[in-house]
Amino acid sequence: MIKLFTNAEQIVTCNTNGKNYKRGKELSELEVLENHSILCENGIIKDIIPNYSGYKINSADKVDLSGKVILPGLIDCHTHTAFAGSRAAEFKEKVAGVHYEEIAKRGGGINTTVTAVRNTSLTDLVELMKPRVQEFIAQGVTTLEIKSGYGLDFENEIKLLHAIKIINEIFPIDIVSTFLGAHTFPPEFKDDHFGYVNLIVEKMIPHIAKNNLAEFCDGFCESTAFTSNEIDKIFKAASLSGLKMKLHTEQFNNVGGLDVALKHKATSVDHLEVLLEKDFSKFSNSETVAVLLPGVSLFLDYQFAPARKIIENNAIVALATDYNPGSSHILNLQLIMSLAAIKMKMKIEEIINAVTINAAKALNREQKVGSIEIGKHADFAVFNTDDYSDIIYNVGRNILSCTIKDGEIIFRKRMIS
Ligand code: NIG
Ligand code: FE
Repeated sequence: MIKLFTNAEQIVTCNTNGKNYKRGKELSELEVLENHSILCENGIIKDIIPNYSGYKINSADKVDLSGKVILPGLIDCHTHTAFAGSRAAEFKEKVAGVHYEEIAKRGGGINTTVTAVRNTSLTDLVELMKPRVQEFIAQGVTTLEIKSGYGLDFENEIKLLHAIKIINEIFPIDIVSTFLGAHTFPPEFKDDHFGYVNLIVEKMIPHIAKNNLAEFCDGFCESTAFTSNEIDKIFKAASLSGLKMKLHTEQFNNVGGLDVALKHKATSVDHLEVLLEKDFSKFSNSETVAVLLPGVSLFLDYQFAPARKIIENNAIVALATDYNPGSSHILNLQLIMSLAAIKMKMKIEEIINAVTINAAKALNREQKVGSIEIGKHADFAVFNTDDYSDIIYNVGRNILSCTIKDGEIIFRKRMIS
């Protein structure tokens, strides 16, 4: 099936000439085409042609996007969309001054959501997740990562991964599944960390890998969660089983997570709010993507990751929502993009690359999606504007026109007239 997306004011390609990621200074380079059309065949980009080339096509196969800007489909490469329950009560406490880690230490936080997930059936979990995923699609998201991590026993971690799998079958976008059994210690293993790490390593990881229930293995390396030695043990098992790795690290403390993740050549390290100056250069030659999550800093009201320094040190930087019930209850990738500009001083061009091609790299999908290049999937986010800066300048306002996945319009914003 042939389709021509034509007459758009701008096509922001995020082209990398086959390199498929941008690091350091390259992040501020953004190819923008005017007077061009995108030709797609069977959901794949076949050509990008100048409008005056006289290319002939049936009018039924033409999609007129005049007055609009086309971006590669947005990619949210770090979310915890698979959860049940509410943490509004803890949010009230946090607003009143109680620290996130303090709530975690007394058994609340992540474990509050674990109790809720354990009391929710697979079917109900899927029902809870559906409107969340629809909302991501309505923002132009065509690839979405979702982590487990609120089950923290064999049965419930598998239940979460099944829910993610079902969501992937229901929706036309790509859902990437991550196993986060090492999110925190569940109450029954509070005093037996060795036992829980063994459960992850000996039972959970082999089963998950064997049944293709996740692509990535993630962990939380923090003084209130897992030590770097425990993460090392978990990552050894993950790589033996063929899972790729991601790590939540340098969020509140520096306890060795970054070095362990780099040693294992993790696909990404996420958070980095408290990254130390001595560690900036560790990204310079690394293929590990630095995923920054400014929603967490807003939601918990503390410092933002030093994005400028990380970019100056030649890192591959991506951005994500970290949508979750406790530390970033923000289901809004476009707000994250605006926050990155206002609070982390990232340039508009850097931000667009960070939620497209570099976010694709953070999910090991950079060969297939993340930029508008011949041979890649025809995944687009189309906005009602004539200039891409407006997407970020409109803080907290979604100016999306439609979302296109594999050449098909899967969401169209209806205007009341
Ligand atoms: O990415 N840091 C650990 N995990 C999540 C928070 C999860 C929660 O509080 O429920 C995060 O911030
Ligand atoms: Fe997270």
